[in-house]
Amino acid sequence: MIKFLDLQKINAPYKAQFQQKLETVINNSQYILGTEVAEFESNFAKFCGTTFCLGTANGLDALSLILKAYIHLGRLQVGDEVLVPGVTFIATAQAVVNVGLEPVFVEPDALSYNVTAETLEPQINSNVKAIVVVHVYGQLADMPSLEALASKHNLLLIEDAAQAHGAVCPSNGKRAGSFGNAAAFSFYPTKNLGALGDAGAITTNDLALYECVRKMRNYGSSEKYRHEIYGVNSRLDEIQAAFLNVKLPFLDVANSARQSIAARYLNEVKNDNIKLPKIAHKNAHVFYVFAIRVANRPDFSAYLEANKIEYVIHYPTPIHKQIAFSKYKNLNLPITEAIHASVVSIPISPIMEYEQVSDVIKALNAY
Ligand SMILES: Cc1ncc(COP(=O)(O)O)c(C=O)c1O
Repeated sequence: MIKFLDLQKINAPYKAQFQQKLETVINNSQYILGTEVAEFESNFAKFCGTTFCLGTANGLDALSLILKAYIHLGRLQVGDEVLVPGVTFIATAQAVVNVGLEPVFVEPDALSYNVTAETLEPQINSNVKAIVVVHVYGQLADMPSLEALASKHNLLLIEDAAQAHGAVCPSNGKRAGSFGNAAAFSFYPTKNLGALGDAGAITTNDLALYECVRKMRNYGSSEKYRHEIYGVNSRLDEIQAAFLNVKLPFLDVANSARQSIAARYLNEVKNDNIKLPKIAHKNAHVFYVFAIRVANRPDFSAYLEANKIEYVIHYPTPIHKQIAFSKYKNLNLPITEAIHASVVSIPISPIMEYEQVSDVIKALNAY
């Protein structure tokens, strides 16, 4: 059986260091917002190339807090429209709805699966005040053109970078998380930088946003028992931060391993029944998942199962067809729907062995 993602194997090399960190945290007893969180925030800001980073409890909260803080700061008003991709995990739209904003679903480019300036611009009108862009499956959207679009229309530009830790923009060398006004990350265990539980962060160069989210994530307080604004409890856990500090120095190496596997899939899979993803540039994609498209997914899934190759579908149902989002069910999003109906994510991870990749390629070519 070729596993889709072997988390035990991914984390095994770090086990001794995790145990050491655990010992340190237990002994120093700073269990909430201690030195590990502060260190991770500093490390991750540096990694992304931003002035600030703030840890949060998870990726959904990271995105919600950015939006909520911009409402608090008067940059957004409840009811404003926010452009979001039709193809993404539900969290992107959920964050928008949860803070009282209105999502407007935008079609992606059919080949890269990402929204572009061309797909976004026709949806912009006077009600639209922000764009949340997602680097879907790990491929950086074309951020320089989206920054130009946001500035042309005076919109906030927020990255949902939950799937793209470390992705690099080929034209300027900047990393995911350093574009626009602010970015949200998830360190859910399956992510390219994964914790051993829930964890998230925001990155930004916006001092006002940083100061606001710093309070908002901690009951509206930056000083014990002094509450200046309404807030929530969404702090990055100290133990998860400690684990992330162990793994962050190896993120680029892990991403390169994913990129090498992806290069093999792109070069060696040759089958007209399988559509490979369009990659703008090798470094711009960190392959959180490698999503291919097939015409008959039930048939292809059964074939993979028969060949003992695990797969995942990211995601079987588009957000606007989810029960919770039923008020959007009549939207006309044919590209979004076609992608959701045909994608299959095949195994890719830093610990996959050469022969396992060869076996997947062989099976795909024989389909
Ligand atoms: C694109 C995207 N946004 C947001 C999230 C939410 O992150 P979390 O599960 O940490 O809340 C995820 C992952 O789960 C994601 O893939």
